[in-house]
This record gives sequence, structure tokens and C-alpha cells, in this order.
Amino acid sequence: MGMVITIDGPAASGKSSVSRELARRLGWKWVSTGAFYRGLAYAALQLDVDLDDVQTLAQLTHNPVWSIRLESERTKVYFKEEDVTDLIAHEDVGNFASKISHYPEVRKALLEAQRNCSAGPDGLVAEGRDCGTVVFPQADAKVFLTASSEHRAARRATELGLDQDDMVKAQKQRDHQDSTRKVAPMAVPENAFVLDSTELNLSEVVDKIEAFVRTKVH
Ligand code: DC
Repeated sequence: MGMVITIDGPAASGKSSVSRELARRLGWKWVSTGAFYRGLAYAALQLDVDLDDVQTLAQLTHNPVWSIRLESERTKVYFKEEDVTDLIAHEDVGNFASKISHYPEVRKALLEAQRNCSAGPDGLVAEGRDCGTVVFPQADAKVFLTASSEHRAARRATELGLDQDDMVKAQKQRDHQDSTRKVAPMAVPENAFVLDSTELNLSEVVDKIEAFVRTKVH
């Protein structure tokens, strides 16, 4: 297992862009663990699996009909050999992903595949909600990235071409679901470097995180 840095935080806090850039600077790989929940939610929707049918959802986690591929630009999701990475980015898939992420059986079934991303000698930047608390509790450095809800909603609304007020509502609901669930709720890991990115641009955020990370990994 190589070294691991975790970046957790709420919806649209910039975790993916920051992880991608940090991994590029370090020459490491990165993974969006949210892609696992989104991919599973997408596969369940396509296969008409009831989102309350926990047993079938847990089985679907290991079904080769969908898969994850780590690439330097994005964590890609494939369904029936087709690249559906753009489709899973939609907020409704994010909301379904958040709903099914409440089930302990689903979380447990996805955990091993998420942990396997650190296999091999290369370092890994892993982003999500519980990367520093549950997926990689022994991570070499942990970060919790946040930003004001208006800023996060504006960012995602622009990306997806949607109304900002609707996005504020959708994200508030999702953050509430993610931080109040019983199993592995979104939380600030112990000893994490907490950074509010509201007033910072991408390279400023990555500069600060890189400076912190370099005090922990060599
Ligand atoms: O980071 P994201 O928006 O792609 O994540 C989508 C949903 O997946 C998120 O609302 C909750 C769930 N998730 C999770 O429960 N644990 C993670 N480590 C990552 C995502």
C-alpha cells in the first residue's frame, strides 16, 4: 500500500478539482469515492432496482455490469462497457447516491473496492465524506475542505447549467442527509487540516493543502 491523503467535505466543496491537482503535483493517483455511490445509484436506476431494496443493492455492488476506472483527469464510471461519467454527475444521481449511502450493507460492500485503490507503490489522494474517518483511518495526511453553501451551489449550478437557488436547496438536503446518517456520517477527521475555500481560487487552495501535506509526507 502506498501513501494516502484524504480530502473530505460537503457537496461541491471542490474536492475533485483539488484532489486532481494535488495528485498531479505529487505524481500520485486520485479517486473520487463518491463515484462508487453514484455509479451504484446509476446502475440501480438503469436496472430498475428499488432504492429501498438493500439486499439487491448490496449484491449490485459486485456486479460487473458497472465498474470504476481511476484516470488522472476523472474517476470514470462504466455501465455495460459505456462511459457514463458525465451522466452520473447530475444532481439527481447525487441525491440517489446520498440516499443509498445510508445503508450499512451498501457502505460495507463498497469499502473493499475503495480501499483497493491504494494498492501498489503509488500514493493515493482519496476524496469523499468518510475517507479520513472510515476508508483510510491510517492516512498519512487528512484534509477537510469546505466553503459557504452559496459558493458551493453557485459553482455546481454553473458547471451543470442549473438554477442556483434550486442547487442551494438540493445541496442543503444532501449535506443534511450525509452528515446526519447513522453510519459513517460526513465528519471532520481527527487531526485534519480544515480549510474554507470560499475566498480562495483553486491554485491557492491546492498551495495551502500541498504545504500541509508536505509536512506529513516526504
Ligand atoms: O462526492 P459526491 O457528491 O460525488 O458524492 C455523492 C454521494 O455519495 C454523497 O452525497 C454521499 C455519498 N458518499 C458517501 O456517502 N461517502 C463517500 N466517501 C463519498 C460519497
